[in-house]
Amino acid sequence: MMNPRIPKLAPSIMTADFAHLGNQVQQAVAAGVDRIHLDIMDGHFVPNISFGPLVAASLRPHCTVPLEAHLMISDADQYLTPFLDAGCDSIILHIEACSNIASTIAAIRKRQKKVGITLNPGTPLSAIEPYVASVDLLLIMSVQPGFGGQSFLPGSLEKIRAARELINRINPHCELEVDGGINLQTLKPAFDAGADVFVVGSAVYNSKASVAQNVAQLLGSVHAR
Ligand code: DX5
Ligand code: ZN
Repeated sequence: MMNPRIPKLAPSIMTADFAHLGNQVQQAVAAGVDRIHLDIMDGHFVPNISFGPLVAASLRPHCTVPLEAHLMISDADQYLTPFLDAGCDSIILHIEACSNIASTIAAIRKRQKKVGITLNPGTPLSAIEPYVASVDLLLIMSVQPGFGGQSFLPGSLEKIRAARELINRINPHCELEVDGGINLQTLKPAFDAGADVFVVGSAVYNSKASVAQNVAQLLGSVHAR
């Protein structure tokens, strides 16, 4: 009997209550999420500023699941060591922001940490194809990077399907993650298109329901007819 596929959730803390971040993360962990997604924005690669390694380091002792750092910064090489020293378990690199991504991947591997690669909605998959064999995760951006709470871009499903085909062909162990606008309506279509892991920001941290209720509903949404 094939094991049924189960979606893995990666809450983004961008829309969480920053005055109580440790508690917000613990609520998500208690609700059964797979990892925590840290959106690192420098106000240059994207038109927004979020937080740095200090916040990652302060969360580390409160978080029993992996921390993944999504680097939306212009100079990833300069900040690899501070994020890895802060306790991040994986680093996700934007192909558009790395001048020599192969050497950046090698630098993360040297620290025996996981590495992911991502691309903006307008960047074709062919740009990252040469690196799929050497990463643990491919992240498809389903919004323009820079803000939480945006709508899922319609063309993303086709890109997810093509990414799934690419991974199956080149590196079947590579995880396929989707980031942006994932909610009760968009998680299942993205899951059916072949994604494994789902970044969920505003769908988890909102005033409509508790973190536990939102996580349970999202996990249940893949079974909806
Ligand atoms: C956007 C970030 C996303 C975002 C997700 O640049 O990479 O992780 O915070 O938030 P939602 O799920 O609300 O779209
Ligand atoms: Zn992100």
